Amino acid sequence: MSLYSRITGTGSYLPPRKLSNAVLVAELAAKGLETSDDWIVERTGIRARHFVADGVFSSDLAFEAAKNALQAANRNAQEVDLIIVATSTPDMVFPSTACILQNKLGANGGIAFDMQAVCTGFVYALSVADSMIKTGAAKCALVVGAEVFSRILDFKDRTTCVLFGDGAGAVVLEASDTPGILASDLHADGKHVGILCVPGHVSGGAISGDPVLKMDGQAVFKLAVGVLEDAARAALTKAGKTEKDIDWMIPHQANIRIMQSTAKKLKLPMDKVIVTVDQHGNTSAASIPLALDYGVRNGKIKPGQTLLLEGVGGGFTWGAVILNL
Ligand code: UT7
Repeated sequence: MSLYSRITGTGSYLPPRKLSNAVLVAELAAKGLETSDDWIVERTGIRARHFVADGVFSSDLAFEAAKNALQAANRNAQEVDLIIVATSTPDMVFPSTACILQNKLGANGGIAFDMQAVCTGFVYALSVADSMIKTGAAKCALVVGAEVFSRILDFKDRTTCVLFGDGAGAVVLEASDTPGILASDLHADGKHVGILCVPGHVSGGAISGDPVLKMDGQAVFKLAVGVLEDAARAALTKAGKTEKDIDWMIPHQANIRIMQSTAKKLKLPMDKVIVTVDQHGNTSAASIPLALDYGVRNGKIKPGQTLLLEGVGGGFTWGAVILNL
């Protein structure tokens, strides 16, 4: 049994079709929906997002991200004994996207399951994988966030369809004698189920209810800016650290204004915040590992640095993880 778990490699993947605001605005205008680049940039910071092609699923994006993370960690798939895929857009009702990914990787035989905590899914999954490694249940985990939110958007609802994108990010988390994941702080409050949801379900061989994303944006915004600071501070306290120890904050990428507000409350300058929302939009559970891999690969985030990961989303769920890379 190891005392700690540590990230040994990161990876990500974005589908090739990238839509700038201008292209999306023109496509929506052709369908009679009025929006603008100015509104989207000013209210959210989003300038572009990636959408999958027909026939491409979350497991396909997860597969590419996982391969990149395994290569960075210098591990092969057969060494992986735990796969957790955080997703709200699974390939099928069941089996889990994690099982589909496991088979695509040829990593068969270990533990595999999905984590459903919407945009907080990756933070939840990382914390669960850390616990499983610490108890000796696993030694080498793949923790993935993968989403195809373009499939659950209502392109007649301008308040939501301009916000989201598709993509996947992954980390390899291994048993370690030196500290990596230092602390996490996770929460949910189910009384807010209705403010961000996809209410449809399968019943009698058909979809019953509305199978597209519904969001009360202002309610989500207000809750998000309140809870993220609390989770970050609680995780810092558990880790025996203060905000001065944070080299990089890697927040869920939903809205630049939420990130700026959290950074301000934590007295972190924005040049310590990894921002990808401008190029990726909100990719739900994939956004944090996508941003982490972006920061690592472009040389901003360096080994040994202390990171704050924090997410918030449907459920209502929220949480933070403090780690040493
Ligand atoms: O990933 C999970 C977490 N999700 C989030 O964190 C999302 C949190 N919420 C938000 O980021 C923001 O609330 C939004 C970006 C969704 C909306 O921004 P807002 O500043 O709260 O705008 P609003 O909802 O108050 O809408 C302002 C105006 C409205 O017009 P009126 O009623 O003032 O005339 C909307 O109808 O903007 C209008 N509007 C749009 N206009 C052009 C809403 N969507 C659009 C649009 N284009 N796409």
